[in-house]
Amino acid sequence: MTRYAHISGWGMSVPQQILTNEDLARMVDTSDEWIQSMTGIRERHIAGPRESTATLAVEAAIQALMTAGVPARKLDLIIVATSLPEYLMPSTACIVQDQIGASDAAAFDLLAACAGFPYALSVASQMIASGAYSNALVIGSETMSRLIDWSDRSTCVLFGDGAGAVVLQASEKPGGLLSFALHADGSGGDLLMVPAGGSRMPASLETIEDNKHAIMMNGRGVYRFATRVIVSAILEVLEKAALTLDDIRLIIPHQANRRIIESAAKDLGLPMDKFVVNIERYGNTSAASIPIALCEAVSEGRILPGDNIVLVAFGAGLTWGASVIKWVSAAPKRRRQLPLSDRIFARARSYARRTRRHIEGIIWGKNE
Ligand code: ACO
Repeated sequence: MTRYAHISGWGMSVPQQILTNEDLARMVDTSDEWIQSMTGIRERHIAGPRESTATLAVEAAIQALMTAGVPARKLDLIIVATSLPEYLMPSTACIVQDQIGASDAAAFDLLAACAGFPYALSVASQMIASGAYSNALVIGSETMSRLIDWSDRSTCVLFGDGAGAVVLQASEKPGGLLSFALHADGSGGDLLMVPAGGSRMPASLETIEDNKHAIMMNGRGVYRFATRVIVSAILEVLEKAALTLDDIRLIIPHQANRRIIESAAKDLGLPMDKFVVNIERYGNTSAASIPIALCEAVSEGRILPGDNIVLVAFGAGLTWGASVIKWVSAAPKRRRQLPLSDRIFARARSYARRTRRHIEGIIWGKNE
């Protein structure tokens, strides 16, 4: 029997704090006019001191579970696509797993930069289609503001923070992820990178003084790459799904630059209203940009059951990917509440496990 992976829940979370172009013009030599005309960005959300990749991911995850009406304990798999995890280890997905009380879920992070969401969605869908798992949570969560050199005007105006999540569920009803395409070209890795903090260049006084922990980007090189692959990836997934552009209701592209999306629209001969564009309010939120745009498109009624949509993204690596989804879920009239008991139980379970480990440590000491 064929199994399909349907999106049954969706949710998003962005920090409250907003940084406008005018704010940036007071920090570096730039202007609202330059940023809007070159990128389409007007403002972006920036994480506060108590917010992080994991806190945003947990909030988006809870929203997605509430829309789906799925209790966290029913999840089999959690994937967090991110460019800046909470820690190098443990994974952000494990933190989400613990905090939402997904006691039976496998959890791991996936690093494909801004293309992370289509990558993670494809992996989770294939796990479901194979019969291995039935309920998966896929999250894109980023705090790009913490990877920024705030004195570099060529990058600091581009990025923002946020998270988006979807619940994928197995079904025998045709639909869900119809096709996907994932690609990489590591020869372009130097176009967009954070040089320090990994194995090649561990953190040191020198790396901090030289600003090597911030994003370095060859903007023109990334722009050329993006305008090329965005079109080829869309056409590839359509062919794989045996569909044409006429069958597609909406395209949700990664929100990196409005001009990149306009260029793709022109090359494909499509009007801009076929594309979801919300970059003006969020900037580039990397792996979170597609699920955030998806949430907004559903809540605005731009995606209805039976619609075919395309997701397409590109990013550091270089990586790029796309997928075609047949949307099957109606937005719930009233958002279901995640029972308070579930959240209390998740906290109590986490606390009990930590306490048990602490006591075991005291009993067994160093000879454990
Ligand atoms: N304000 C004012 N002037 C600026 C700014 C700024 N914020 N940034 C750069 N400039 C200046 C430059 O100094 C340069 O001045 P000069 O001509 O006197 O030397 C001029 O503007 C042109 O700079 P370019 O970098 O050549 O401008 P470009 O046309 O390439 O636009 C941009 C820059 C908007 C960044 C564009 O290259 C772009 O969008 N590239 C794609 C970036 C992208 O998508 N990155 C994310 C990938 S996804 C991921 O994995 C994170």
